[in-house]
Amino acid sequence: MSQILPLVRTDTQSALRSHAERLSAATLTDLAGSDARADGLTRSAHGLVLDATRQRIDLPALSALIAAAEESGLRPAIDALFAGLPVNNTESRPALHTALRAAGGPALSVGETDVRAVVAAERERCRTLVSAVTGGVRKGATGQRFTDVVNIGIGGSDLGPVMALEALRSYANPRIRVHFVSNVDGTQLADVLAGIEPASTLFIVCSKTFTTQETLANARVARRWIVDKLGAAAVSRHFLAVSVNHGAMDEFGIAADGRFTLWDWVGGRYSVWSAIGLSIEIALGSSRFEEFLAGAAALDQHFNDAPFERNLPVLHGLLAVWNRNFLNHDTLAVLPYDQRLHRFPAYLQQLMMESNGKRVRKDGTPVTCETGPVVWGEPGSNSQHSFFQLLHQGTTRTAMDFLLAAESSVGLEGMHELAVANCVAQAEAFAYGYSRQEAERDLLARGMSLPGAAELAPHKVHPGNRPSTILMFERLDAVTLGKLVALYEHSVYVSSVLWDINPFDQWGVELGKRLAEGLLPAVRGEAVAAGSAGNTLALLAKLRGGAQG
Ligand code: F6P
Repeated sequence: MSQILPLVRTDTQSALRSHAERLSAATLTDLAGSDARADGLTRSAHGLVLDATRQRIDLPALSALIAAAEESGLRPAIDALFAGLPVNNTESRPALHTALRAAGGPALSVGETDVRAVVAAERERCRTLVSAVTGGVRKGATGQRFTDVVNIGIGGSDLGPVMALEALRSYANPRIRVHFVSNVDGTQLADVLAGIEPASTLFIVCSKTFTTQETLANARVARRWIVDKLGAAAVSRHFLAVSVNHGAMDEFGIAADGRFTLWDWVGGRYSVWSAIGLSIEIALGSSRFEEFLAGAAALDQHFNDAPFERNLPVLHGLLAVWNRNFLNHDTLAVLPYDQRLHRFPAYLQQLMMESNGKRVRKDGTPVTCETGPVVWGEPGSNSQHSFFQLLHQGTTRTAMDFLLAAESSVGLEGMHELAVANCVAQAEAFAYGYSRQEAERDLLARGMSLPGAAELAPHKVHPGNRPSTILMFERLDAVTLGKLVALYEHSVYVSSVLWDINPFDQWGVELGKRLAEGLLPAVRGEAVAAGSAGNTLALLAKLRGGAQG
């Protein structure tokens, strides 16, 4: 595909292309060393440091990218986001996740709704609920305190809470265990139910729409489990729900004081800051949850105020465009050097791929360049021992984000030093590589013969020039996590503006959902799968006859 940034002037596009050609010929070793480069490509704000000195970019190319951002209308696009304009054009909605974490701010309304007022009111209801649950004031139907909370939800109604709770596990209340059930196949639910008692379990059904098949299937089985053990009247004590769909919550049997509101103007994958985060808030306490919100709010302000060349989300989003459209890297590996962040890559997969995995522009015409990369990853150092071989010496090109704290999450500084050394060493190896000459020299120094060294050396070469960013922070706490997540949210938005795509819709998930609904009667043997392809019918027949059939 041609790589034309659709809203950028032709001379700026040409400048970007010639920078890319020039920099493709240069190595990171050639580029390294200048103080101006180190200063211009290392930026900090609110305790986060973005070190892009190992990206295959230099300051003139970065300036051209910033010009491209300006020509693409990034400034008015940021203003529109914060002002609550309908930036989600295919659903005619604002995307006001920033309002969920702003304490105060200028008046903001969507239609008749006073956004500041409804957000504050719901925040207060969450605080009250959390204090009642953790303080033992709100009890189960038999008078027992809640010891277990089960969040039932999928996608944005699951990934954010799981990711945040895993990341902040060090701060969790040891008296309340939080479990997550998302998948449709029933195994997660069965495992969770096997380890909990109905009388002391509180379920939170999180679903923006309250129509999602997976969530409703899990919630119905959980409700039957409660009804079987405690009777139908117990449902209202043991279930809370978070949704825009009050009718469906009613129908499910959620009591008025157990219903929490989400709004159309908050996207599912941007909703962890709302009552969708109740499971996190119960585990960590409201103050800690509000620190998470405050961290994100600080990054929002930075995104709104900082000049582009010092603006962390802008730089991160522009580097994504650079790697994708000018250096042809079609994947991004996210590599946190802290096991507590083990669900962060999965969380980012939805945030980045559901947002920017688009093939048409905002006006419905085909995109003019590649859009969102494949996002994946695992914590280091585990990842070093699985897929780093391919990243160092394979033929696929991937960009990388390393996430690195200065301090240990658990007070084991000696071990954390090992993690830091590994992370920095890997970033260095990816950038600067290991040449054939170095390999031969080292083999000879170890006593290998000249022909032996010549034969083995090519296998030891690390070409380097694999671009990475290191995102650093003091420690993994609630404030920092809020900042990190907000940085990625805004980075996604920045890239979307340059690609002229809508990052807030997700039509691409609908077809599969609809087909699954249609196939269900055939899977159950109640009907023939009318309209399905021949190979689908054959496959269903095999499954119904047993896989050997
Ligand atoms: O998979 C599509 C999706 O709509 C996501 O965008 C969303 O986070 C998820 O399903 C769950 O949706 P809901 O919260 O409405 O159950």
